[in-house]
Amino acid sequence: MTVHPQPAPRAPSNFNNWISAAGGVLAIGALFSFALLVWMDFTEGEKNPYLGIFTYIVAPVFLISGLALVFFGAWAQRRWALKHAAIPDKWRLDFSSPGRKRAIVLFGIGGVLFIMLSAFGSYQTYHYAESNLFCGQVCHSAMNPEHQTYQRGAHARVACVECHVGSGAKTFVEAKMNGTRQLYSFVFDNYQRPIPTPVHNLRPAQDTCEKCHWPEKFLGNLDMTYEHFLSDRKNTAYTVRMLMRVNDGRPGSPLNGIHWHVSKDQIVEYYAADEKRQDIVWMRVTNKVDGAQKIFRNEEFKGEPPAGLIRVMDCIDCHNRPAHVFPPANDIVERAMALGQLPLDLPNIKRHAVAAMTQESIITSAEAPGKIAEYLKSKYKDAASLPGAIAKVQELYAATFFPDRKADWRQYPNNIGHKDWPGCFRCHDDKHSTATGEKVRASDCTSCHIIISQGKGSDLATLTAAGLPFKHPDGEYDEDLRCADCHNGGIQGK
Ligand code: HEC
Ligand code: HEC
Ligand code: HEC
Ligand code: HEC
Ligand code: HEC
Ligand code: HEC
Repeated sequence: MTVHPQPAPRAPSNFNNWISAAGGVLAIGALFSFALLVWMDFTEGEKNPYLGIFTYIVAPVFLISGLALVFFGAWAQRRWALKHAAIPDKWRLDFSSPGRKRAIVLFGIGGVLFIMLSAFGSYQTYHYAESNLFCGQVCHSAMNPEHQTYQRGAHARVACVECHVGSGAKTFVEAKMNGTRQLYSFVFDNYQRPIPTPVHNLRPAQDTCEKCHWPEKFLGNLDMTYEHFLSDRKNTAYTVRMLMRVNDGRPGSPLNGIHWHVSKDQIVEYYAADEKRQDIVWMRVTNKVDGAQKIFRNEEFKGEPPAGLIRVMDCIDCHNRPAHVFPPANDIVERAMALGQLPLDLPNIKRHAVAAMTQESIITSAEAPGKIAEYLKSKYKDAASLPGAIAKVQELYAATFFPDRKADWRQYPNNIGHKDWPGCFRCHDDKHSTATGEKVRASDCTSCHIIISQGKGSDLATLTAAGLPFKHPDGEYDEDLRCADCHNGGIQGK
């Protein structure tokens, strides 16, 4: 049985008035939503940081407003009764006359409906706040490049929150607070452009990636094909096909090959001297079975890494762009060529398309489409396929450059390879060694992959199981240079 503050027999309580009644309904509705949201938070929730904004900010604000109305009503009623001694009960809920009774019944039905709707509303809010549309567009329109790049990726059907929030109570609360902070900086428009990477509070891969992928899964040698075109008159095709030694050996045997870094038997830790984790100066390998350790240092780095900045290597130190790939201009143009979307019979189309997209003056400009058209027209005069090519290059530009966010591949390195960014070569070079002079193993051209065919046309008809030495299409180059010293995503051939 519920105990209500009963009106005193003769003088009815000041709380008995329409304002307090409305406030009461609002408060009950809010309490109901709050309870429901908290419950969802702890049962299926555990994912969405933005839900916290509704649960712990919006719902309580309504609850407090409702309660404030209840007390305001009582206060106002008291003032009214004192001032208008003749009709003190004008605002009271009065059951004595049938007309007023009907009003109260209607109010009661309305109140119940309101409470039901607020519960339904918060349930909807919950699902909406969890949706990718909410993350990528409404709240994160600041992050629109992430949303667009995400839609092209292998994880376009994986919800943002699966990787960015994951599960677990402690980090959940952290993610919530972080989400609230982000919302404020978005509202006040003081978020950074581009949004900085890496994400320092990303959940450890065990809680995110490893919910769907597991390191023990045997992948064997992956056969990968890279299709390129050269910046010459004929747009010569150039393909490299290689076997990537993700893990050789047999299923179930200890992890070796590329996925060795995440095997259970050892941990690899490192310290990067820069924010973007591109300049790795120190690393430590600990064998978990016998405790043996090896420390590699870069030639210039003599000290010890600052405590708290040592990172345990996991999936995203290589796969840091599983969902948001910002393809370099070079790659996106080559891809369009391979798909037949750019006419290969336009002489030098690769060179000019890349050059049109990367003109210094358009990278931060809103007039890019016009300038791209102008540039290509100046190269091709009146070729029949020109209008189509212009439209395509404009489209490619829009898919790679986000000028208003200052976001493109140069701000968002992809660490998986080593051609356009340092990637694996951040550690696998000849510049790191142990105190005894031992270098990082697996640093020559056949330890991570073997090239089974390369070139064009009939060159690709035979595969060489023993592996071929890499034939660089642009000829010999200085061995001391890293690929990324020249290949910066928008390279122009000779
Ligand atoms: C498959 C996992 C995955 C999914 C799904 C995913 N992300 Fe990411 N996201 C990442 C990783 C990994 C990084 C880079 C982390 C790093 O380098 O520290 C990242 C980085 C970001 C960044 C920081 C800027 C950058 O590009 O490095 C933003 C913003 C972001 N994601 C937003 C989103 C949004 C919005 C969605 C949904 C539309 C989403 N993410 C879906 C894994 C994911
Ligand atoms: C909710 C499940 C889920 C989560 C979480 C997830 N993935 Fe995936 N991932 C998938 C699925 C499904 C595919 C296969 C997509 C396909 O075949 O097109 C995939 C594909 C991949 C691929 C192959 C990519 C390619 O381009 O073909 C890589 C690499 C990968 N995931 C890495 C990661 C990393 C790293 C994380 C954590 C940041 C992660 N995944 C989180 C489900 C997930
Ligand atoms: C001295 C500068 C330089 C270095 C170092 C260099 N390249 Fe290149 N590379 C070029 C140039 C210039 C081209 C021709 C680009 C074109 O025709 O579009 C080229 C073309 C290529 C191509 C085909 C076309 C393309 O643009 O993708 C591949 C693949 C390639 N290089 C891979 C590598 C790899 C892998 C390394 C490191 C092992 C490397 N290069 C190191 C300058 C360099
Ligand atoms: C040392 C770098 C590195 C680390 C760490 C790493 N991977 Fe990989 N992984 C690779 C490379 C390289 C490939 C080959 C595919 C490629 O080159 O894109 C690959 C392939 C994969 C594939 C298959 C992709 C496909 O196209 O079929 C999946 C899935 C994957 N990794 C998931 C993971 C997960 C999950 C983790 C963490 C437990 C992880 N990787 C850790 C470098 C790494
Ligand atoms: C943070 C530094 C770091 C990065 C980044 C890194 N590695 Fe490694 N890798 C190591 C260390 C350290 C070793 C072990 C070296 C030793 O003991 O001599 C190693 C070992 C390896 C091995 C040998 C594994 C075996 O079975 O013996 C392969 C293959 C390899 N790495 C591939 C890659 C590839 C591919 C990438 C890029 C996708 C990459 N690594 C990125 C640090 C790194
Ligand atoms: C530490 C491991 C590692 C070493 C050492 C290594 N590579 Fe690679 N390489 C990779 C990975 C991983 C990729 C795949 C990148 C991706 O999935 O996009 C790759 C890709 C390539 C590609 C294809 C790139 C493209 O876009 O066409 C070429 C060519 C290549 N490597 C040549 C070389 C040469 C030449 C050397 C020796 C100087 C070398 N690699 C050394 C790991 C390595």
